[in-house]
Amino acid sequence: MSNDGVNVGRRRFLVAATSVVGAAGAVGAAVPFVGSWFPSAKAKAAGAPVKVNIAKVEPGQQMIAEWRGQPVFIVRRTEEILANLKKIEGQLADPDSKQSDQPAYVNPELRSIKPEILLLIGICTHLGCSPTFRPEVAPVDLGKDWVGGYFCPCHGSHYDLAGRVYKAQPAPLNLPVPPYYYETDNIVVVGLDGENA
Ligand code: FES
Repeated sequence: MSNDGVNVGRRRFLVAATSVVGAAGAVGAAVPFVGSWFPSAKAKAAGAPVKVNIAKVEPGQQMIAEWRGQPVFIVRRTEEILANLKKIEGQLADPDSKQSDQPAYVNPELRSIKPEILLLIGICTHLGCSPTFRPEVAPVDLGKDWVGGYFCPCHGSHYDLAGRVYKAQPAPLNLPVPPYYYETDNIVVVGLDGENA
């Protein structure tokens, strides 16, 4: 009886995981649940990859998705933003993300698969507040040298629009980049590596 219960429960779980992202994602989706063959429905929902339609994100704007209960910032960067990222590299603590958390398949400086689309986990690497999106250039409160980025209101850490932290901030590392891939030009699957990762 109990063996049957385990098998049925496991099969149900795998079916449920598969239905979220399709057959290709089933193995990766199972990884967070190893050690518990009976995750609650809530746990499954919280750990599952999420599909996000980014079609409506305008150039220079951000949308916020949610994955594993965390905010995921998604920004469509303009040519101007991308050019500014280069100019400020000397002011950053880890400009090519040698210490920071990101998948190996993203560009280390731009921190993305496609240059214009940035995905970040929106949790400050200091003590876990969620930084504020501040894309304006030279706003009064952030100073004339500000070229757009993120500001953490808790203890004042500054990040650029690749989620890279400036030098001498409370936050030690860049904002993490989650695993993700493009299902189509406008559909991003957050929480799984693509087949070619
Ligand atoms: S939590 Fe962001 S600066 Fe402290």
